Amino acid sequence: MTGTISTQTGSAHAGLLGIGAYRPSRVVTNAEVCEHIDSSDEWIRTRSGIIERRFAEPHETVQMMSVAASRKALDLAGVDPAQIDCVVVATVSHLMQTPAVAPLIAAELGATPAAAFDISAACAGFCHGVALGADMVRSGTAKYVLAIGVERLSDITDPTDRGTAFIFADGAGAAVMGPADVEGVGPVVWGADGSKYDLIRQNENWMDVVEMNQSEMPTLRMDGNPVFRWASFEMAKVAREALDRAGMTVDDLDAFIPHQANMRIVDAMARALKLPDHVAIARDIVYQGNTSAASVPLAAAAMLESGEAKSGDTALFIAFGAGLAYAAQVVTLP
Ligand code: COA
Repeated sequence: MTGTISTQTGSAHAGLLGIGAYRPSRVVTNAEVCEHIDSSDEWIRTRSGIIERRFAEPHETVQMMSVAASRKALDLAGVDPAQIDCVVVATVSHLMQTPAVAPLIAAELGATPAAAFDISAACAGFCHGVALGADMVRSGTAKYVLAIGVERLSDITDPTDRGTAFIFADGAGAAVMGPADVEGVGPVVWGADGSKYDLIRQNENWMDVVEMNQSEMPTLRMDGNPVFRWASFEMAKVAREALDRAGMTVDDLDAFIPHQANMRIVDAMARALKLPDHVAIARDIVYQGNTSAASVPLAAAAMLESGEAKSGDTALFIAFGAGLAYAAQVVTLP
């Protein structure tokens, strides 16, 4: 047999149609974090920009937070869950190794029989999901895609570890992507540097935990200073390339929405990019901490809710973290 395989094409353009967020109810102050580590409110504020963060209560599971954020995004997009063809969930803190959490989220939303799977790209995961979703819409693999970034990092953070306890937090954000009249998601610039694999990592793998007969779960560890230097210098280059590939300059931007890793990294990138004064800069980290895969959609939703950014604005997303992995794209905000 020498048949030719048929192919398909999708919409000429893809866009973000709605963004939703879920912030857990429990506010955790720097004073509470300092009950377990030798630190101070002043040190945490000046070194990270964080004043407080949110930790999920037991009922605020990865699934529950994702469904809540997704319902808001779907409402804003005017898309029925049944129209979703693919649900992509970026997370590193769904503690059931298999199956993925995405099918559970899709089922609870009523987005069945959408394809549903998780991706593990740590803090860069949501921007990977946006890139995949836009490509699916343009290729015809899916008409509507739901990309979720969600974390319960409080479950895998050691409250007594001075290097991470004050940074990581919980939350969820979601974006609906679909066909658009003009392009709403620019080319992704993404990559990974496995030579820096150990800089942010689980302290032990599960096999070691079992062999050593330990009763405690592995937790995150980070060599903060090299990560800080890498993010501050290398990520500005990636951001510039994402602008170039979208055919834009910083003057075309209305908003800069980077991963909320550390306020000093946000400031260093803004300086390196020479962002004009009119560009609104996301600073959600102050009250949200570093929520890894959830941080970009949480920050975008906060800017849209507060009026700092508005529908139709041009924004630059960039996210980076464990792997080390990164992804950036220019988008039109929904
Ligand atoms: N509280 C108080 N002091 C602390 C501390 C804490 N939690 N952690 C470290 N210190 C002290 C160190 O002991 C050191 O003291 P010394 O100068 O007396 O030796 C000093 O602060 C500086 O330590 P260093 O590790 O160099 O701090 P830093 O300026 O690099 O700041 C981070 C630490 C974690 C805030 C910073 O490295 C960072 O933000 N890194 C990137 C984090 C990040 O983005 N991670 C996520 C990527 S997704």
